Amino acid sequence: MDKMIIRGGKPLRGSVSVSGSKNTALPILIAALLTDEPVRVRNVPRLRDVTTTLALLNELGARARWTSDHEVEIRAQRITSHVAPYELVKTMRASFLVLGPLLAREGIARVSTPGGCAIGTRPVNLHISGIRALGAKIQLRNGYVEAHARTLKGARIWLDNPSVGATENLMMAAVRASGHTQIENAAREPEIVDLAAMLGAMGAQISGAGTHVIEIDGVERLHGAEHEVIPDRIEAGSLMVAAAITGGDVTIGNAPLNHLEAVTAKLAEAGVEITPTNGGVRVRREGNLKPIELRTLPYPGFPTDLQAQMMALLTQASGTSVITETIFENRFMHALELIRMGADILMKGPTAVVRGPAKLEGAPVMATDLRASMSLILAGLAAEHATELGRVYHLDRGYEALDVKLAALGAQIERVKEA
Ligand code: UD1
Repeated sequence: MDKMIIRGGKPLRGSVSVSGSKNTALPILIAALLTDEPVRVRNVPRLRDVTTTLALLNELGARARWTSDHEVEIRAQRITSHVAPYELVKTMRASFLVLGPLLAREGIARVSTPGGCAIGTRPVNLHISGIRALGAKIQLRNGYVEAHARTLKGARIWLDNPSVGATENLMMAAVRASGHTQIENAAREPEIVDLAAMLGAMGAQISGAGTHVIEIDGVERLHGAEHEVIPDRIEAGSLMVAAAITGGDVTIGNAPLNHLEAVTAKLAEAGVEITPTNGGVRVRREGNLKPIELRTLPYPGFPTDLQAQMMALLTQASGTSVITETIFENRFMHALELIRMGADILMKGPTAVVRGPAKLEGAPVMATDLRASMSLILAGLAAEHATELGRVYHLDRGYEALDVKLAALGAQIERVKEA
């Protein structure tokens, strides 16, 4: 298992570029199951979760392969298996998204439920009730969701909360259902809009993506398409925090500022200088950081996937910040490790009170999930002495060449291979 060793204290300077969005690439690659024609996807990040997705698609009988550095071609001419096994789904929750497309194309799917995860219970009840509303028969057997439907029929579906995954799964099922589907209280994330664009390029009839109500008119078949994945707003936000926490000056190319409004507003409130550039953003911090209040919300609110990184930053603000996590019920695991590095954080239920500025000291730390790993790297960049981050595989799930990108900005960071 690899480790990352970070020696902090150096302001980051220079330019860096954001990779394609992980959370967009995964459903878009999975959408290729909906057609027997070739699908070509560009700007796909080289990540462990993408490798897992390609393995899953191959397992189902598709031929999914890299055709160049960041381009993938998938041809699901025939589907030979309808089973998404536990071994794959447990390592990557997004595997559950094959339920909708498999069912739409084949009328049958057997998909393992994802089970618990480090950031909360994360059930799939909304995926299941939505698919049922489209006319599928669903049973839960031996930890698997077994779904059958001779034909799916369009329906009106109300989501109790605007789940990103449920919205995606239902879109991919409904595009080939007969008749009209309306998904109400749908997620509005940019990832949904990009998936709708991909499905549209494949011949689907979708409108309203990016709003609370998505309308879909089912079509009999979808065809091949080409699509370029949008840049990763969470990676961009993480790099912005890296510039800010080190008191640096970094230009981030390819940063999707239009998807980062809540993030830039909160960073500016904390005293970080944000200047849009041609195709990206320049992030600078000279003076002290100011404390802020922050609440995670569905898009366009502040993303939960940047909460851990902001917590690391706010340990360095002069005063008391308050962070409220409203999306996941157990997403403060990184706080315990930040406290071990010297942070002053008090947690009560969904709220964390962060008092700063704290003098951070490097320590051996361990992350429980992807964004928590990033938070600890950021803390390491601001800490004295060396921080040793274990379980780097979490980081590799969702950040492309992060150590290389940070090192190019002057960070002292190295990956150590362990036997
Ligand atoms: C996606 C993102 C993840 C991000 C999250 C919230 C991907 C691959 N992952 O995850 O990085 O943190 O959105 O922005 O895109 N819920 C239910 N029932 C369900 C489904 C969800 O109660 O059937 C709840 C969850 O427990 C959670 C909330 O809804 O409290 C939001 O989850 P959801 O939007 O579904 O997250 P994911 O799609 O899993």
